Amino acid sequence: MGGTLPGALAADWLVSAWDQNAGQRLRTPAVAALEEAAGAWLPDLRGLPDTASVGFVTGATMANFTGLAAVRQAVLAGTGWDVSTAGLAGAPPVHVLVGAERHDTIDLALRYLGLGQPRAVPAHAQGRIRTDALADAIALSHARGAWVHVDGAFGLWAAACPDLRHLVARVEAADSWATDAHKTLNVPYDCGVAIVAHPEPLSSTMGIRASYLMSDAAGPADPQAKVPALSRRARGVPVWAALRSLGREGVADLVARLAHGAWSIAEQIAAIDNAQVLNDVVYTHVSVAFGDDERPREVTARLLADGTAWMSGSRRKGRDVLRVSVSNWTTDQEDGRRSVEALRHAWSER
Ligand SMILES: Cc1ncc(COP(=O)(O)O)c(C=O)c1O
Repeated sequence: MGGTLPGALAADWLVSAWDQNAGQRLRTPAVAALEEAAGAWLPDLRGLPDTASVGFVTGATMANFTGLAAVRQAVLAGTGWDVSTAGLAGAPPVHVLVGAERHDTIDLALRYLGLGQPRAVPAHAQGRIRTDALADAIALSHARGAWVHVDGAFGLWAAACPDLRHLVARVEAADSWATDAHKTLNVPYDCGVAIVAHPEPLSSTMGIRASYLMSDAAGPADPQAKVPALSRRARGVPVWAALRSLGREGVADLVARLAHGAWSIAEQIAAIDNAQVLNDVVYTHVSVAFGDDERPREVTARLLADGTAWMSGSRRKGRDVLRVSVSNWTTDQEDGRRSVEALRHAWSER
């Protein structure tokens, strides 16, 4: 788990030492400028619109919440209902379709927003985005007045790597995106990013306009106008430091190394007797089944007790699995080899 780039860690210490409230630009212009620079680089790295609003939040959960709050505002406004003033009681229903393999935090964000249980549609057999169908799906959604939100907590970083970009091709046509910096980019917790293509519905739903808050009317919107929090730490500064120290190629290399780490681990696991890698390992994630259904739990418990590596138990298509996610920039081939060895040992002790 975890892993922070040295530059990002140093920047995070500075953020604590400076102790600035990053909600407003006028109070702390230098910090706001660093966050604005990072906020301009992030869409650029992923091929997203450079006019999108970028807000720094605590993680992908809150980034999903932020994007979906803008969705709620926009689709209801499309029916003539202003949810900011009229609330949800009596509002036209908002129908939310989600992929069957979505992360549970989408449901959580929808609960926060009073939008209830979404309707699940079948996902790609591998749980991936079907990029061949995405452009049509987005065009159809827009034609029907719907909005497309992408939860790319890990996945959106694939767009920063030329060799992996095809995995998220055409997501740039969506309307909002959630991603994490504390995962793939390896900045310290807690740092997620909410990117919204249409600033207006976002600013109608976020931000406060109190008389004691002095704003600089000349510049871009205050950071607090793009996220659910008013006061917050300057968590965009470690993102700036990570991107500044890595550069475009460094980010691409980081993402590629994480993926290669997962591919190599998957290959070694597949060579263990009776272990079965269930997914096509195209990115940083590996799902493994062992023999009958109960085994992954036993194997996971023994592996965690051993302490060499952290791999967690999960379920995939009704089967218990062991889940490997490579996301720490320091994980190298030797770590992968030792982790698989520990797994082999945990499995052979059954
Ligand atoms: C796809 C996806 N979305 C959302 C989240 C939630 O992210 P966070 O824990 O940063 O809020 C995760 C966490 O792993 C995730 O994988």
